Amino acid sequence: MSKTGFDLVVVSNRLPVDLCVDGAGEVTWTRSPGGLVTALDPVVKNAQAAWVGWSGAPDQTIEPFDAAGTFLAPVELSAAEVAQYYEGFSNDTLWPLYHDVIAPPAYHRAWWDTYRRVNARFAHAAAKQAAEGATVWVHDYQLQLVPALLRQLRPDLRIGFFNHIPFPPFELFQQLPWRRQILDGLLGADVIGFQRRTDAANFRRAVQLLTAINARSERFTIKTDDGERRTVAAKAFPISIDSAAFNELARTPEVQQRAKEIRKELGNPDVVMLGVDRLDYTKGIRHRIKVYGELLHDERISVADCTLVQVASPSRENVEAYQDLREQVEILVGRINGEYGELGHTAIHYLHHSYPQDEMAALYLAADVMLVTSLRDGMNLVAKEYVAARHDLSGALVLSELTGAADELSGAIMVNPHDIDGMKDAFMHAAHMPAAESRRRMRRLRRKVMHNDVSKWAHAFLDMLVVVGDENDAHRNRGESLSPVAEVENIA
Ligand code: G6P
Repeated sequence: MSKTGFDLVVVSNRLPVDLCVDGAGEVTWTRSPGGLVTALDPVVKNAQAAWVGWSGAPDQTIEPFDAAGTFLAPVELSAAEVAQYYEGFSNDTLWPLYHDVIAPPAYHRAWWDTYRRVNARFAHAAAKQAAEGATVWVHDYQLQLVPALLRQLRPDLRIGFFNHIPFPPFELFQQLPWRRQILDGLLGADVIGFQRRTDAANFRRAVQLLTAINARSERFTIKTDDGERRTVAAKAFPISIDSAAFNELARTPEVQQRAKEIRKELGNPDVVMLGVDRLDYTKGIRHRIKVYGELLHDERISVADCTLVQVASPSRENVEAYQDLREQVEILVGRINGEYGELGHTAIHYLHHSYPQDEMAALYLAADVMLVTSLRDGMNLVAKEYVAARHDLSGALVLSELTGAADELSGAIMVNPHDIDGMKDAFMHAAHMPAAESRRRMRRLRRKVMHNDVSKWAHAFLDMLVVVGDENDAHRNRGESLSPVAEVENIA
């Protein structure tokens, strides 16, 4: 730790590691689930940074500790706060609202109160770790109030915010009773990053319609409480993975050997199709399984020549919509396996687990076809991992148009996950793709994924934060204020 704090502080709901306490009180740490940690972990590793976040378990007081060069500072949440802030407001209000209301969002005032209180706790924890003039990078929808709260506590800081999930169109965002407070919270940042240009445009339109701020361009000016002017940038920075590291992992003899074993364990079918998701209703898992089932029914494929492996890692298991989804998926898988399975040939290998990265790399290598059929997805890093693993240029990626990844990965076979017939044709195209076409597409995909990696993403964001931070320091030093007639509203 530097003399009086860290020059870079990352703040996210979860720490990169997840605390598991079993029935016997035995404590283990595992890698946290989801794309946020996949992306941020390599950025922060060895950067002499602090990472402020929750351990993933309720009511745990854990002292800060070092992990692989990063100082982890746990924020404690009580069981009631987990229920109201994490499962409630974050994952039963914001998550469905920001993902096209695929599931109905629930609006509860008590959840909102807890969200505010917990966001204030994260802001204090970040303020405590940050050195004078440090950069604090806040992440994702669980912490949208942190930028403004932190600026009140520490006006010296440079504050960035990155939203890993979509930002909804105004017509949906409008439903949120606390929409104005959310905007005010985000506007506390110097730079607000989004996955897609449409997300940034949706945010700026919400600012435009709900405040008196003119947010038509990517950089705009706001007036702070003390009458000073401040520049805010709100634009897209599409996130990625540590592509080179993943490519290397997939080239190791151990992973290659394991990929061969997996194919053998699956009965060496002609075609292995693969889905890898958190068990989440945004991922289009039911749609994908339905398509596979119909292809079996139509006899366009058979279980002997084409098997589906679906990894569905457990997620948010106390939220009802997730419990319902699990039940629906498992009924569907059971029905298809019962109807079409044969001795020695399982139709769908359904795995309700999460796996370490080397096993994931082996699965990607073992799969001829990767199925990413999300109904809405901020980016989808699984698609990028698959591409990074396919160094021999074989394999086909089926990718939903409704993912952020679709903006970049034009070499994929694009699908609308709601169009079941279109998906059936796309799955067949991918399963029987000629080697030359697969090589051509994969080369194009790999050019994008290997070039636009996570370090480029982080640099693009942090460089922008330096530019805007310098500009705002200059405003402050000159004591510049906006004329009282300016069409700019105060933010809290
Ligand atoms: C997505 C979100 C992350 C979240 C992850 C896992 O990637 O953008 O913020 O951490 O899912 O979800 P969980 O609720 O388990 O943290």
